[in-house]
Amino acid sequence: MNRPARAACVIGWPAKQSRSPKLHGYWIRRYGIDGDYRIEEQPPEAFAGFVRDLAAHGYVGANVTMPHKDAAFALSQPDDRARAVGAANTLWLEGDTLRSTNTDVEGFVDALDAMAPGWDRATRSAVILGAGGTGRAIAYGFLERGLREVHVVNRTLAKAEEIRARFGSAIHPASWEDLPRLLRETRLLANATSVGMIGKDRMAFDLSPMPEGSVVADAVNVPLVTPLLAAAEQRGFRTSNGLEMLLRQAVRGFQLWFGVRPEVTDALRQLIAADIPPR
Ligand code: ATR
Repeated sequence: MNRPARAACVIGWPAKQSRSPKLHGYWIRRYGIDGDYRIEEQPPEAFAGFVRDLAAHGYVGANVTMPHKDAAFALSQPDDRARAVGAANTLWLEGDTLRSTNTDVEGFVDALDAMAPGWDRATRSAVILGAGGTGRAIAYGFLERGLREVHVVNRTLAKAEEIRARFGSAIHPASWEDLPRLLRETRLLANATSVGMIGKDRMAFDLSPMPEGSVVADAVNVPLVTPLLAAAEQRGFRTSNGLEMLLRQAVRGFQLWFGVRPEVTDALRQLIAADIPPR
């Protein structure tokens, strides 16, 4: 059997649940590329060795998922975005150099541009729920797009304070008790916690304080319509979901590995949505 000319993979522990092979596999076929995208399950202790020998394993690059994003950053030469966020989710080889970036930033922002165009013109402030790696990536994306005030609500306040230390005084750490007050004053809410994900904690959201015309986005992609997004739809707000973020964050990796900037189309959206519970 002929080996494909170029291959990439997703490295995680576990990684079997990843939707990336279906997504990249679709683009490989769509653009007639002589390529492959595989799953590589690697435990934490094997990760460094694996990525150091990425080319010998037959890969030109990789996506990196839990729990390897910090290690991927530490073991590679990061671009500005990966450096700002302090974590990497996409690796590629530039000659012999292992480079990295963080495409969660553009994934979230491009999804908003696609689903709620003009979102950044309607507001100068935002509220982000969550201060993990995803919360950091979204906060950076919002600041890049010129928002002046980003309130980061987190159960563990110290992690929101770390984001302020990293990105400066436009970041305002807050606790969940502050949320109703903050929602009265913003038109943009982003969830970067695992709350609402199937199998994780669920929570009822009261979005009644938010002004008319607000935009609500969720990084959680299982289910497609999280309880937060359902509450937003009920109020007539525009929404952006985690599936759109997943699709958009994949674009740059594919371009780096296979040399084609792939399009996010309705056919692709439907293909990936088909095996995600709707609610
Ligand atoms: P990721 O890398 O995807 O951001 P993470 O670093 O594990 O994942 O972050 C998960 C986020 O969800 C955190 O902000 C976490 O809050 P803490 O930092 O206080 O742990 C948040 N989270 C998870 N379960 C939660 C819950 N039941 N209520 C509130 N926040 C929760």
